[in-house]
Formats: sequence, structure tokens, C-alpha cells
Amino acid sequence: MPEPVTADIPVVRLDPLGTDHHGEATRMRELGPVVRVILPGDVSAFAVTTHELVAELVANPVMSKNWRNWNKVQSGEITDEWPLAGMVMVTNMVTTDGETHQRLRRPITKTFTRSRVEDLRPHLVANVGKLLDALPSHAVDGVVDLRQHFANPVPMDMVCELFAVPVDWRPRLQELAYNVFRTNNTAEEVAATQRERHDMLTRLVESKRADRGNDLTSALIELGDQGEETLTQEELIDSIWVFLTAGHETTLSLIVNGVRALLTHPDQLRLAVNENRWADVVEETLRWDAPVGNIPARYPLEDTEIAGVPIAKGEAILAPYAGVCRDPEQHGADADNFDITRPPRKHLAFGGGPHFCLGAHLARLEGTVALPALFSRYPDLRLAVEPSELTPVPSFVANSAAALPVRLD
Ligand code: HEM
Repeated sequence: MPEPVTADIPVVRLDPLGTDHHGEATRMRELGPVVRVILPGDVSAFAVTTHELVAELVANPVMSKNWRNWNKVQSGEITDEWPLAGMVMVTNMVTTDGETHQRLRRPITKTFTRSRVEDLRPHLVANVGKLLDALPSHAVDGVVDLRQHFANPVPMDMVCELFAVPVDWRPRLQELAYNVFRTNNTAEEVAATQRERHDMLTRLVESKRADRGNDLTSALIELGDQGEETLTQEELIDSIWVFLTAGHETTLSLIVNGVRALLTHPDQLRLAVNENRWADVVEETLRWDAPVGNIPARYPLEDTEIAGVPIAKGEAILAPYAGVCRDPEQHGADADNFDITRPPRKHLAFGGGPHFCLGAHLARLEGTVALPALFSRYPDLRLAVEPSELTPVPSFVANSAAALPVRLD
């Protein structure tokens, strides 16, 4: 087994507060294709820094997503009290490989179809309209936090609608989902979030077993009852939780990042409005300011080598998605510019390989409905603070602003 390489590989302490995702990613890329990173709790891992290497990493079957294969878990250095445990040390499709992963993913791909998403369009349009109507009522001294009152409720409502989560539970679930992506949680906070979300989703599944409807929870239970694709009660609860977390913070970040990009690039906003280029806005926002910063982690099942760097079996390797979406090798020398007319090139905002995002179609639908509706209703929308005053979400996973104060007119 090769010695873990520390001496000649550059080391970067990842900022747990995600203060400067893009600057950090550029600095890492400049240091080389593979760097060592230090995670909260002084835990060391690797990161690859180019589009090409991340694309290879996420498609490579030798790279396990199961945290039980992490050598630091096996040695007891990482326990469930680690600040990132609520995100990393869970058992669901995100953290399984091969046949187990397929068994957990297949029921979702069978029931979460494009037509089910498209059927939700009228609900989405109506909800977006309602939220836009209500925005002035949230103004304090003429300023509205668009993240809290628009970007936040849109995706949570959609995922909850999909799974038939009762309306009055949605605000609390929103808070619990947000907690998972913070990388500065205490051990008590992690445990409390896990307990509460488990109780709520157990109640949801039990109520749907008793009273089926035209929703994804019922469809998954039904599939199990027919003897196809059986998920245990715990797997079903965990799958719903994956949707609530993976589908919420990411999509709200897409909306926040899209608004922020357009308000700071008025020429691009004019183009989007005049030429109805909202699909391009969504795609360029995903690339230029990808909602997922760094995803922990993948663990090689055997000793391996990436770009000439030996990496021992069981080391953790991060995929810095937001960083490589600005890799000039893939997106050109102007990769740092927000340009909705950019010819499409493959980006990794939704990941790749067998774990490619299951909600990409829903996220794109939400972006292409929410953004034009917002700018059509409030054509004079503007930021209420300088762009440099926007505070990032305290996370190296979620890449977005923690608040988006705007003036509506
Ligand atoms: C702009 C919005 C979104 C972005 C940027 C995004 C990004 C990603 C990325 C990068 C991954 C791969 C993670 C990895 O490599 O481990 C992923 C996986 C996943 N996403 Fe999304 N996502 C978004 C929206 C959604 C939505 C709306 C849903 C569902 C409602 C969703 C559900 C999932 C699920 C279930 C997985 C895990 C798939 C698997 O492990 O097989 N995502 N997403």
C-alpha cells in the first residue's frame, strides 16, 4: 500500500464557511490537478481540481461512495459526532454503490418521471405567482430578502407536493434541510436534526400507507406492494429525505445565484428578457455559479493513482463541482465570465456517472418558471446592498448567498 502522500502534495484548508468558493477553487486548480484538503475537525482528504479529472472520478466504479470504506471511519478517527456526519454518514442512494445503489435508485427513476414533473407545472406556476404577490408584504424599509421569501419556498413546496408532505410541516422541514448543508454544525445539532426529520417522515409514510394518493410516496409504497422494487420502511424514509435535502438547498441556490448573476450583469438580463433566453440563463447560472461547491466524498476501493499522485485505498476524495464548472480547459479562457450566449459545453453542476442528479429536470423546470416570472412582475428589481456585501451560506458544500436583499421597484 503506498504511503499517504503529504510531503509534496499541496495542502489547502477548506474554508468551512464557504466564504469564497470560486477563489478557493481557482487557487486549488493553480496548485495542481490533485491537492490535499483539510476538512472541519482537521480531517485530511484529497480533491481533484479539473473538469476532466472530476468527470473521470465520478464515473469510475473503483471510487466508492460508501463512507464505510473510508479508512478514517474504519480506524475510528471519524465518528458520528463529526460536524459533517449528518451529510456524509447516512445510508441512502447517495452513499451506496453498484447493485445496492441501483436497487435504491431504480424505484425513484420508475416513479419520478418527466411526465410526473411536467404535471406539477401548473402547481409551480400558481405557487410562484402567489409568492410574487406576497413579496411586498415582506418588505422591511422597502427591502425584501428574496432568498427567504421566494427562492426558499419554491423548491421545498415542489418536493413536498411530490411526496404529499402536509403544508404546515413544510417550513420546519425547510429548516431541517438547511441544517444538513451547514458545515459548522455541533454534534448535538446534527443528532437533533436527524431525530426530528426521521420522526416526521415516519409519520408521513405511515399516513400514506393508510391513505394512498397520486403522489410519489404512495407510488413508491405501491411499487413495493406489487412486489417490484421493494424498499424497506427505513430506505423509503431515507429516500424521501434525500429528495428534501438534495432537491431543496440546491434549487433554491440556483434561483438565488441566477437572480444575483442577472442583477450584477444588466446586459445579460436585458438579453434574457428581450430574447426570452431563460433556459440559457439557467444553464449558464448552473455552470458559472454552481449550487454544489464540494461534494464529500469518494473512497477508492483499491490503491490508485490520479494524475500521477498515488492515493491509498480508503482515502477520501472530494469532487469540487462549482470549481470545475469554471475550468478554462473545459469552458474557455473566459470561463469566469457570466455569458448566457456561451455555446453549450458539458458542465458538471449536476455531477456525472451513476450518481448523476435525479432531479435535474425538476430543477431546470423550477428555474425556467421562477426567474422569468420574477423579472416580469418586478422589472425594476435591484440589489439593496453592494454585491460584495452578500454573505455566503456557511458551507463548503452549498454555494449561494445566505440572504438576497432586494428592492422591488
Ligand atoms: C439546481 C439544482 C440541483 C443541483 C445543482 C443538483 C446537483 C446534484 C449533484 C452535483 C449530484 C451528484 C452528487 C454526487 O456526486 O454525489 C446530485 C445528486 C442527486 N440529486 Fe440533485 N441537484 C439539484 C436538484 C435536485 C432536485 C430538484 C432533486 C430532487 C427533487 C435532486 C435529487 C438528487 C438526488 C436524489 C441525487 C442522488 C443521486 C444518486 O446518488 O444516485 N437534485 N444533484
